[in-house]
Amino acid sequence: MSSSFLQILKTSKQLFDSFFESYTKKLFQPQTRITDACLYSLRAGGKRIRPIFVLNSFLNPEAVMRESGFHNHKPAYLAALAVECIHTYSLIHDDLPAMDNDDTRRGMPTCHIQFDEATAILAGDALNSISFYLLSLLEPTDPNAIRDSIQILHKGAGMNGMILGQMEDIEEEKNPSTSDQESRLCSIHEKKTGALIEASFLLGNRLRPDWLERESVISSYAKEIGLLFQITDDILDVEGNLEELGKTPGKDAKAGKLTYPSLYGLETAKKLRDESVTKAISLVSELPSLNNEFFLGLPKYIAERKK
Ligand code: IPE
Ligand code: IPE
Ligand code: MG
Ligand code: MG
Ligand code: MG
Repeated sequence: MSSSFLQILKTSKQLFDSFFESYTKKLFQPQTRITDACLYSLRAGGKRIRPIFVLNSFLNPEAVMRESGFHNHKPAYLAALAVECIHTYSLIHDDLPAMDNDDTRRGMPTCHIQFDEATAILAGDALNSISFYLLSLLEPTDPNAIRDSIQILHKGAGMNGMILGQMEDIEEEKNPSTSDQESRLCSIHEKKTGALIEASFLLGNRLRPDWLERESVISSYAKEIGLLFQITDDILDVEGNLEELGKTPGKDAKAGKLTYPSLYGLETAKKLRDESVTKAISLVSELPSLNNEFFLGLPKYIAERKK
């Protein structure tokens, strides 16, 4: 991985984190048990990879490195926060006893362990709706961008995107399919993880003046990144450890989940992961920009991550 990719990654995370700290203080007001639970999970220390996708599909790498704060590009930061709120809600609900029943997330007790189940359900609900509120605040140069952003986020996170993927994941766990497992697995991964990742890239891209000419290739690239991300997540569930992952490993096998390692075995899962890296990199050459350092470095980073 090139040092400049790692620098872009680090800088984008710092930029998002500083926006997050200053903005959430006024957003989550007045303080209640719900805002406490929302902020507990939001601050627990995620990788912020989806906000980083928003920023990097909006700004070229040299612009990320020149960015001195969020003031010039506030719409992109609001969209990035919207995605992180939806993602955090999906994790809070994913960890509930009725779903994956996990007690550790982002290196901390899960929301329902720290608070209680009802609070965790409601905090998830609050984070879901606040995302769409955040998009209403965008004030983009192109007024249609608000409408389009709401539709992009709904498509990725809603009942035909992430939520359907979660439904299929749970149905598969309760009632495993006996045929066509490969396409079933692909469908689950594309929706439960890929759809929101795709939305993250598309949201950043939608705020650019040249969004339309880039949209289709960004979408193909983002779909591949989403699949790669979840294959790696499945592998980490087998090989990772609690300290690095910040969540309990080994839980997929215990629950009998349909995953890449469970269907293909660990070695083939890794081969498929590496093929996905190659495929994602090859898609970058279709992007109409001379400097695609972030997009080129990202697949390998995702495949090699330890958390
Ligand atoms: C975890 O996502 C859930 C999946 C979709 C696999 P991340 O690995 O991005 O979790 P955080 O945000 O860093 O905690
Ligand atoms: C994540 O799938 C899906 C969403 C949260 C939408 P997992 O259930 O595999 O995620 P982890 O492993 O608990 O983070
Ligand atoms: Mg799950
Ligand atoms: Mg889970
Ligand atoms: Mg997992």
